[in-house]
Amino acid sequence: MPLRVDTRRFVPDSVDVPLLVLALRKSPALTPPLSALDTRLGGAIGRTLQRRDFRGGRDEVLHLSGAPMPDAPQRILLVGLGEATDRIAALRRAASVAARQARKLGTGALAWYDGERGADAAEAVTVGLLNGAWEYADLKTPPPEDERRAELERATILADDDAAAAQGAARGTAIGEGLALARRLAMMPGNVCTPDLLADTARDIAQRHGMQVTVLGRAEMEREQMGSFLCVAQGTPQDPKLITLEYRRGPTGQKPFALVGKGLCFDTGGISIKPAQGMEHMKFDMCGAAGVLGAMEAIARLDLKVNVVGLIGSTTNMPSGVAVKPGDVVRSHLGKTIEVINTDAEGRLVLADVLSYARRFEPAAVVDAATLTGACVIALGHTASGVFGTDQALVQEVLAAGARAGEPGWALPLFDDYKELIKSDVADIKNTGGRPAGASTAAMFLKEFAEGFPWVHMDIAGTAYSESDLGYIPKGPTGVPVGTFVELVRGRAG
Ligand code: BES
Ligand code: MN
Ligand code: ZN
Repeated sequence: MPLRVDTRRFVPDSVDVPLLVLALRKSPALTPPLSALDTRLGGAIGRTLQRRDFRGGRDEVLHLSGAPMPDAPQRILLVGLGEATDRIAALRRAASVAARQARKLGTGALAWYDGERGADAAEAVTVGLLNGAWEYADLKTPPPEDERRAELERATILADDDAAAAQGAARGTAIGEGLALARRLAMMPGNVCTPDLLADTARDIAQRHGMQVTVLGRAEMEREQMGSFLCVAQGTPQDPKLITLEYRRGPTGQKPFALVGKGLCFDTGGISIKPAQGMEHMKFDMCGAAGVLGAMEAIARLDLKVNVVGLIGSTTNMPSGVAVKPGDVVRSHLGKTIEVINTDAEGRLVLADVLSYARRFEPAAVVDAATLTGACVIALGHTASGVFGTDQALVQEVLAAGARAGEPGWALPLFDDYKELIKSDVADIKNTGGRPAGASTAAMFLKEFAEGFPWVHMDIAGTAYSESDLGYIPKGPTGVPVGTFVELVRGRAG
């Protein structure tokens, strides 16, 4: 059962909870409501702070025992906010750390207090709590009953203004559910999360939220002459899917905002096959698509009054006797011919056709997210997504949205010179430009197909999943780019 987050007024002499989480800044001191609680607990928190056992650093936690008296918490967890230059980001992160800790303890429920007011703080805390409580256990045999810890089922945000907090918690739940959906799809192995499953998930979202859904398969894409997308799908018997979700709660006639996602359910590299080491991570090559589905889920739950179209290009990149080969030339949906130099540069081939297909929705803007290049990971590490675009205002909009969501992006260039690197001897363009500026040449390739609308590309290869535990998030999918997409669309909704 997913975690339920509600809100209540903070009354220091009535916090009968299995776990009370107190979020404290760097070098913490006890302010009035907390000192009242501390007095009831015999000064345990005050002494802990005085001894400097807990200093409020980012991700710092300290577990204290509560008091065996009525209306007092059974356990206390101090969690650090750090310097908290970005208060909202610090709350979101600390809440995630706390929920992970509560899940490990098996307390079943928790109460959260941070001394903040307002809906935005409660929203961030809720997103964090849901993020920290998330897990993917579908494929694990559950431990025997007597060894099982209670699931974290309920969290209560204690706030002075609980009406605003309730509003924030509702919004946070909408976003948290979108993030959870994206992470769940991403975590699924390639034999479970197939293009078919992504299409079924889109149909389910459409049905629950009154959206229109369209799914093109191989036959329909052949009719649309999507030779670029289809050449990637040539080596797999699975039916590729081009999925469209249309959400229209904005004014009629308002041009939609389009979100595009790369949905490679597995990327072996194809004939240009990848090395075995770490190849299992290529199940995450559909994180852009998962981001679109998660964002559409959140946008609908938030009931944003905008028009949004979500587009996903999904297939699996496999070697086979009939797979596309290096040197093959294909004709894209837009009409440009492409020489396939490296079959492992497949994401751009899929997105090329999805981007030109997007034109028929007459989008106000198109933003795509794709785990597109290892080169982007080399450039920016796992700290920021690469952001490229043909419209500087839209680039700034994406960067600001990412910053608000705690999903940083960083602008990278699309110099005209890069075009030289992807000139082909036999076709209009080739699909790789060699090692130099690999993230930019990939983006430059996409730009050739992003005709007729302002466009931004996010390379999320380094940010969509983590190969190590990050403390606030375990190893696996991070939820990027759901937060950025939601903030972007929310920004447009005004
Ligand atoms: N899906 C990969 C990019 C990737 C790499 C994502 C590492 C996440 C982590 C993409 O399809 C790919 O294989 N790109 C190639 C392009 C190259 C052949 C020009 C790459 O980055 O090596
Ligand atoms: Mn690849
Ligand atoms: Zn790929």
